[in-house]
Amino acid sequence: MARSLRVASKYIKDVKSALQRHGYHSQNALAEDIGISLSTAKNFLSGKSVDYLNFVEISEKLGLIWQEIANKEPGTETPATFLPENYSPFVTGSPITHPRYFFGREKELKRLFNLLKRHPLQNAAIIGKRRIGKTSLLHYLKNITTTPAENLRASQRSNLILKFEKTQWVFVDFQDNRMSSRERLLLYILKSLNLKVPEHCNLDYFMDVVSDNLRSPTVILLDEIGVGLQRCPELDDGFWESLRSLATNHTEGNLAFVLATHESPIELAHNTGHSSPFFNIFGYTATLGSLTEHEARELIASSPIPFPDKDVEWILNQSQGLPLLLQILCRERLFSLEEGETDENWREEGLRQIKPFAHLLEETEKES
Ligand SMILES: Nc1ncnc2c1ncn2[C@@H]1O[C@H](COP(=O)(O)OP(=O)(O)OP(=O)(O)O)[C@@H](O)[C@H]1O
Ligand SMILES: [Mg+2]
Repeated sequence: MARSLRVASKYIKDVKSALQRHGYHSQNALAEDIGISLSTAKNFLSGKSVDYLNFVEISEKLGLIWQEIANKEPGTETPATFLPENYSPFVTGSPITHPRYFFGREKELKRLFNLLKRHPLQNAAIIGKRRIGKTSLLHYLKNITTTPAENLRASQRSNLILKFEKTQWVFVDFQDNRMSSRERLLLYILKSLNLKVPEHCNLDYFMDVVSDNLRSPTVILLDEIGVGLQRCPELDDGFWESLRSLATNHTEGNLAFVLATHESPIELAHNTGHSSPFFNIFGYTATLGSLTEHEARELIASSPIPFPDKDVEWILNQSQGLPLLLQILCRERLFSLEEGETDENWREEGLRQIKPFAHLLEETEKES
């Protein structure tokens, strides 16, 4: 197995433009950020072989899918250890992080991008039951605007890259315990925005630095904010009020928050004993449910082995267009096709696998 990889020559131009797009003004800046030698960065960018771990890391930093840009000549196959995770056509546990594997939500995305493309940027909340796809949507917002068209499905090509080229995105996951410390959270945001990071940071310093320096559109994505409210006493009303004040009065309309939660922000604040007006600034809420039939069909059609029509209808029907259930049933069908099975046992297995997520189906039935 090859231990090193190189960028295929047809992708070298894309790799170079990704460097600029991600704010690296020199090859050295990239090398320093990742902690690799300048010669490794140079080799990568000029299509020469680099160690595969470095190859993966540099690609990810530049928002590129390493499997796609890697040269496919015999002898340079990608390491098998990476294959299961990276090549899974159907993802059924972790959030979808690469836009290529994200389906649907077209209506919500249109609204969200509309709020974020003009000044003042406006805040939005994404509400939905457990496992409905909130985190995946936040990742999509952040990543689609920097993913080159070649790395998307043909139907996804858009001009978002141009419209949002100046926008900075910061993803905060409150399930990450480090974010429960106010100081660590503020330092993380400053670092993500490439602002001056002091050794210690309090709220006043953060407010000063951000209000004095934030000159380009910035969206802070707050995932699992309920956890932040419930478990993090340091994130008190004073903290949230300062964030609100920053967005509304001190950044010339350049700052917006998009949060993901199980319930509406106002109810959430109420139920967790917070009274901050921060939770009143979410003028748009998107409540996630099933994909549309067209979107669900697109997800099913992404299978590397096409499914027979009768199975497509069965999957649509059983999943009610819920993305996680679609993914599980497609995974089962694909597996049975790959194994050459001719019976319909995969259906029984599929139903067994979606059972733990029956709450999603109940909600859909109630809503419809
Ligand atoms: N837009 C989508 N396209 C394809 N699959 C999706 C999409 N949204 C969600 N999924 C599927 O649903 C699963 C759960 O998605 P995600 O983790 O984003 O949900 P969540 O609402 O953040 O869940 P939790 O409430 O547990 O945080 C993913 O692993 C994936 O299988
Ligand atoms: Mg989530």
